[in-house]
Amino acid sequence: MPEVRRAGIIGLGTYAPARVLTNHDLERMVDTSDEWIRERTGIVERRIAAPDEATSDLGLEAARRALADAGLAAADIDLVIVATATPDTIFPATACLTQDRLGAKRAGAFDLAAGCSGFIYGLAVAREFVAAGSCDRVLVVGSETLSRITNWKDRSTCVLFGDGAGAAVVAPVARGGLLAARLGADGAGAGLLQLPAGGSRLPASLESVERGLHYLQMNGRDVFKFAVRVIPEATREVLAAAGRSEGELDILIPHQANVRIIEAAAKRLGLAPEQVVVNVDRYGNTSAASIPLALEEAVRDGRVSPGDLVVMVAFGAGLTWAAIAMEWTGTGKETGTEGGGRFDPDQTV
Ligand code: UT7
Repeated sequence: MPEVRRAGIIGLGTYAPARVLTNHDLERMVDTSDEWIRERTGIVERRIAAPDEATSDLGLEAARRALADAGLAAADIDLVIVATATPDTIFPATACLTQDRLGAKRAGAFDLAAGCSGFIYGLAVAREFVAAGSCDRVLVVGSETLSRITNWKDRSTCVLFGDGAGAAVVAPVARGGLLAARLGADGAGAGLLQLPAGGSRLPASLESVERGLHYLQMNGRDVFKFAVRVIPEATREVLAAAGRSEGELDILIPHQANVRIIEAAAKRLGLAPEQVVVNVDRYGNTSAASIPLALEEAVRDGRVSPGDLVVMVAFGAGLTWAAIAMEWTGTGKETGTEGGGRFDPDQTV
């Protein structure tokens, strides 16, 4: 069997738009209350992109920060993957816009559609490319402007979502890194979370717009039940695939959709609150951006240190779910040029 290389995250960057939309602001827009939103979701405020900011703008800033964190230039990147449910346009891919504006001249580029699981799917793809030796540095971006597909008159969804972006550079590492990945899908649940119009099934028309079919639609209760089931399942499976026990897990970074989902899943896994990263209170559900926003914050706050065993786990439209077990190696800035996360093209496991 050919030797495979170990892949890890060597750079992280995030970007959140400046405008803050609070629950109190929403009280003035729809029939809701700060109390209901806090109690049912844990969300207090979320960020909203400026009118001239699209998904590629948010993702580009996060990508630039991730490259700086890794100590790399755009020309060092071999592949750009943008995970998003809100691309700038259906085509060309937002990843191509990112590749061009970044100046990643040598890189291939494609978008990845796995809903809120997209960033983890992207990391899993990046890991395979690096492990196989066909790429040395892959940029994975999770970027969303969900505010653009939100029906601001529908209180059952408009209180939940926010805009933001996160990016990671995946490259060979000497030890640790992305240990195992599990990807799941159940298209039978496609109708539970969808954007009905604007594709080939129901092209955009005056009628589709009048019926509000260009807005996100969700059956919240069913997605909730699905999420509480798959987070513990996928976490256990990915730990087993990595050859690690549940007791070894240091930190869980779950998709940030609803604090009640996170707490229920953490309870099933027997985790203490300090082992679970939560920032949904400040960003709402940012879909594919939620995991990198939470990971970068946890690293910055010193909650994740080199050597820690981390599981990132997400669920979303598709339906999809995905988990990655990772031994954190530290990024360029944390470890310096000789640190555990640095590029070593000859390294194999
Ligand atoms: O990234 C993946 C995507 N999404 C998710 O993960 C979301 C998963 N689902 C959820 O987080 C929850 O199901 C929600 C937060 C969406 C809803 O919470 P819930 O506890 O499942 O509420 P519900 O839909 O069962 O609604 C309870 C009540 C209803 O009133 P009645 O029928 O009991 O009189 C709703 O009309 O709450 C009402 N309601 C609201 N009230 C005030 C729904 N939305 C609101 C609101 N403000 N914004």
